[in-house]
Formats: sequence, structure tokens, C-alpha cells
Amino acid sequence: MPGHDPDDPDGPAGLDGPPRPDDPARPDGPDGPAGPDGPARRARGELTYGSYLRVPELLGLQQLSSDPPEHDELLFIVIHQVYELWFKQLLWELDHAVRLLGADDRPRAGKTLYRVRTILKVLVSQLDVLETMTPLEFASFRDYLESGSGFQSTQFRELEFVLGLREHAAAAERADTAEERARLRGRLAARSIWDALVAHLSRTGHAPQEDTDAAVEDALARAYREDPRAAALCEAFVEVDEGLQEWRYRHVVMVRRTIGAKHGTGGSTGVGYLRTTIRPAFPPLWAVRDRF
Ligand code: HEM
Repeated sequence: MPGHDPDDPDGPAGLDGPPRPDDPARPDGPDGPAGPDGPARRARGELTYGSYLRVPELLGLQQLSSDPPEHDELLFIVIHQVYELWFKQLLWELDHAVRLLGADDRPRAGKTLYRVRTILKVLVSQLDVLETMTPLEFASFRDYLESGSGFQSTQFRELEFVLGLREHAAAAERADTAEERARLRGRLAARSIWDALVAHLSRTGHAPQEDTDAAVEDALARAYREDPRAAALCEAFVEVDEGLQEWRYRHVVMVRRTIGAKHGTGGSTGVGYLRTTIRPAFPPLWAVRDRF
């Protein structure tokens, strides 16, 4: 959750780091075999690669729906799970960046956004792997997906919300579990990273004169002209924005290549719908470019 301290035990599930040794919710207690209790295990010389990373559990999570098993379904599951892990990391980094902006720690906020942008590049390049699957190979198991679709990815909506994109606010009421609905509602109620940037710029000499888009653009234009460090931070935001649009663009081309003009499993028009989603998260940072 934006502004959430990762050390806060009341943080949202999945974003609050590994359980601590004294956490009663730990599956096996403080010394149990599955506990990620790094220091204690290391002290006993018990920690291994597999126990630390939970490799057995991880490798048990790829369950094919096709029966008999279709060869290409494993790739489809693995790639989606890898994306969800990266989404988790992106949310972790973006929440960190929001906190750093709140503390006016511009260098570390910029560095964190650089990491976000680098992860986004990895997300884009991973689509190449999926494109080794032909339309016929995908069709061999598509029916087993029923109405499941990336459209229902809670973490992707969380990413949109933390960036300030609120078009899919209704996802907060539609998510599968109460925990996911609570997470999405929390994100909708919290300030976005864009709000955090504008507040940071306001505190550091670049306050908009009024609460309008034009006034925000005036303030951004002044920051770009007069304050190279503020300009560099704004460019880091542009990198993130461009990275997400690149992913959306590559995803829609991959979808066109794989399912043609067919509707999606999530019920949308498919390519037609996805094209409408390629838009900036931070429009003022693009509008301001007309002024130079
Ligand atoms: C063969 C591979 C894929 C196909 C054919 C495909 C197809 C589609 C389609 C048609 C949609 C529109 C919603 C719908 O009606 O279902 C969609 C949305 C989406 N897909 Fe995929 N997809 C594929 C792979 C992926 C992968 C690997 C990811 C990574 C997580 C992903 C994430 C998403 C997300 C987040 C959305 C929602 C986008 C939005 O609403 O802005 N998709 N996909």
C-alpha cells in the first residue's frame, strides 16, 4: 500500500515481507522446517538454497488444466507466474518510491524509479518467449482457460492504481477474494506516486499556482528549466510511463499475433479493447513537452 512501511506488521498480505520469528501466523512456528528464518537456520548451519527460496513449494505451483496435458500450457503458466512475481516487486519498489518522495529523498526516489523502469524492460522482453508459441499451439489449451484472463490480475490493477490510473476502479469490487478487494480499495484510497511527485515538487520550490492541469504544467515547465535535479526526477517518471506503454503495446501486438481479432477469454473485444489502454499514466509530463 502506498506509504505503507514494510516493517509494519499490519501491512497488506503479500507486501509485508517474510514473517518474523515471533509471528504466530508462521506456518511451522519459529523453528519449523518451512520457516524462512534465515539467521536462525544459518546459525545452525541448516539453511539451504531450496529452503531459503522455498523451491519445492514454488515448483509445485504449476498445475496444468489441460487433460491430457498440452505441451505448451506449462510455458503459459510459468510466464504468467513470473509476471506476477515481477508485479509484486514493482509494487514493492513503487511503494518505496512514494515513501522516499514523501521524505523528499530525491536521489533515492530517482534510483528506485530507475529500477522500476529496468524491470519494465524485462517484462517487455519476456513477451518474446511467449511469441514462440504459435496460434495453433495456444488454441490447443485455450478452452481450458475458461473465462480466466490477465484482465483479472489484481496486482496489475494495483500497479495502475499506484501510478494514478483509476479507470478500472470497479476491479476493487470484482476481485476473487475479500483480501484482494481490500487491497485494491486500500490502493484506491491512498495517494498515487503522481500525487507524491506533485507534493514533493511543491515542497521544493515548484508549487503549482492553482489546482489545475495547466498550473501543474506551468510548474513542471519551470522545474525543467530551472532545476536540473527536479527535471531528472521527472524524466525518471517519463521512463516508467513509457515502459508501461511499451509493455501494453507489445502485449497487444502479441495478442493480435496469437488470437487474431477474436474476443478475449475475459470477455472484451480483445485487440480493439487493448489498443484503447495504451495511454500515459502521467499526462502532464507529456503535455509539458509541447512548451520547449
Ligand atoms: C497467449 C498469450 C496471451 C493472450 C492471447 C492474451 C490476451 C489478452 C486479451 C484478449 C486481453 C483483453 C481482456 C480479455 O478480454 O481477456 C488481455 C488482457 C490482459 N492481459 Fe493478456 N494475453 C496473453 C498473455 C498475457 C501475459 C503473459 C500477461 C502477463 C501478466 C498478460 C496480462 C494481461 C493484462 C494485465 C491484461 C489487462 C490489460 C488491461 O485491461 O489494461 N497477458 N490479454
